[in-house]
Amino acid sequence: MTLPKLNNPMACILGSGLGALGESLDSSTKVSYQDIPGFLNTQVSGHKGFLIYGKLGSRDVVFLQGRNHFYEGHSMEEVVYPIRFLKSLGVQTLILTNSAGGMGEGMKPGDPMLITDHINLMGNNPLIGSHRVDEGPRFPDMTDAYDPTLSRVLKKCFEEHNLNIHSGVYAGVTGPSYETPAEIRFLKHVGASAVGMSTVHECIMARYLGMKVVGLSCITNLAAGLSGSPLSHSEVKEVASQVEKNYTKALKSFIQSI
Ligand code: HPA
Repeated sequence: MTLPKLNNPMACILGSGLGALGESLDSSTKVSYQDIPGFLNTQVSGHKGFLIYGKLGSRDVVFLQGRNHFYEGHSMEEVVYPIRFLKSLGVQTLILTNSAGGMGEGMKPGDPMLITDHINLMGNNPLIGSHRVDEGPRFPDMTDAYDPTLSRVLKKCFEEHNLNIHSGVYAGVTGPSYETPAEIRFLKHVGASAVGMSTVHECIMARYLGMKVVGLSCITNLAAGLSGSPLSHSEVKEVASQVEKNYTKALKSFIQSI
């Protein structure tokens, strides 16, 4: 694959059921992950496996429709390879989206949550291993992992689209089993408002490489034990697809406003 020449592109990783933004560009090129050296095929239902680049208004953008997860058995290095690839395209701002189980006050399935911070409970870190001094610091600071200024703008864009957006801490776990109710009580106790199986390692790699990050969860379900019914991936996909249109509109206005 020859790398496209893009002008200060912004990138967005579109999680389960949230791929529609990738189809909404004014002009675009779609490349299957299979055709990009270093990318793995996505095997998770709801994750499409395409890189799409093009223009949204005057802004160059790159969308990754679907991602690989650590629970698929890949190494951390493989799972975060797309972030390195985005860096090589010149991406300096990255939007990470995901589906998550919600445990914050007043959360309902379908609600958006701005990620203000994360807790990495993956038992791993993508930066473990030998260090390349030219890439970034050995011990990257994670104080403002999710850029406060961009986050405020994202929140405003969702509010302007009449979407009731929460703010909170995302706990990243490996999965693939969903949490037990006791684990959810623990996560709530340590300050999490949402839990999911992605994002934290991508954020770490992006920050290490010097990118700004903004994070958005779609609360697809109340976390285990909070709703009285069992969790299922089909429910997660169903809820994400119901809100996809509204999220797409708000995300588009965010991208165009920064
Ligand atoms: N837990 C973990 N990951 C998830 C959930 C959940 O409840 N919902 C969507 N992704």
